[in-house]
Parts: sequence; C-alpha cells; structure tokens
Amino acid sequence: MKFLVVNGPNLNLLGHREPGIYGSDSYEALVRRVETTAKALGAEAEVFQSNHEGEIIDKLHGAMGVFDGVVINPGAYTHYSYAILDALRAIDIPAVEVHLSNIHNREEFRKTSVTAAGCVGQICGLGQFGYVAALEYLAERLKSDAG
Ligand code: DQA
Repeated sequence: MKFLVVNGPNLNLLGHREPGIYGSDSYEALVRRVETTAKALGAEAEVFQSNHEGEIIDKLHGAMGVFDGVVINPGAYTHYSYAILDALRAIDIPAVEVHLSNIHNREEFRKTSVTAAGCVGQICGLGQFGYVAALEYLAERLKSDAG
C-alpha cells in the first residue's frame, strides 16, 4: 500500500502559522507522524507540499498507477479550486480531504469546500490527528477491497 499525502499553500508554516488555530506542532512533526502511521499500517507514504495550484495538480496526475490512496489538505484552494476538484475526479484513486481546523466554525468562506466532492470523505477539526484517521481509513478500505 502506498499513500500520497498532499498539503497545499501555507501548510509548510505549521507550528508558526496562527498556532491558536492550526496547533503548535511543526510541519516536520506532521511529516514524521504520517510516516510513523504509514509504517504501523504496513504501508508507505510520500508527503508533498506546494504553494502552487498547478504543482498540486501535476502531483495528483502523477499519482495514477503509483499510489493506492490520497490524503489531501488543499489549504485555501479547498474553497475555490475547481481545477483541484477536477484533478481529484480525473484520477481513479480514493482520496480523503483533511483540515486541521474545523472549517465549519470559522469565517463563512471556509464553510464551503469545492474539493471535497472529489473525495470519498472529509475530516476536519481534529488537528494533525486527522491525517492519522485518514490513513487508517484508507488502509482499512484497501484491505477490505482486496479481501
Ligand atoms: C485548512 C483550512 C483552510 O481554510 C485554510 O486556508 C488552510 C488550512 C486547515 O487545515 O484547517 O490553509 O485547510
């Protein structure tokens, strides 16, 4: 099992960026947590971060035939990137959308996710644990598909 974890704009600043909202754990801590979780699940994970929409789309295209599951936090692109939505729909790989914060109890514009419609589900408000939950879900789903 190989999982691709995609993080969008500004997530590289985790730990520094609005810690009251996104937590004080660093981006490096998130990468380590994802890698530890994948290992415990008997899987591999690649973690990718970009501040550029096109790079995120290219990475999703390149995931076809390589990765079995995608975890994506599109950052602010969540709220308006139809191009990322289309990319998620174009690749035939189950994806889970994750947000560190609860996007439903913040500003109005954050309540809408245009990208979640290209995912099997969405997890938000659980901080970095949301990535762990998403990976566990994908591993369980793949195991039951295989069995
Ligand atoms: C976020 C929520 C988005 O609204 C915001 O633009 C982010 C992070 C989250 O993880 O809570 O960059 O995706």
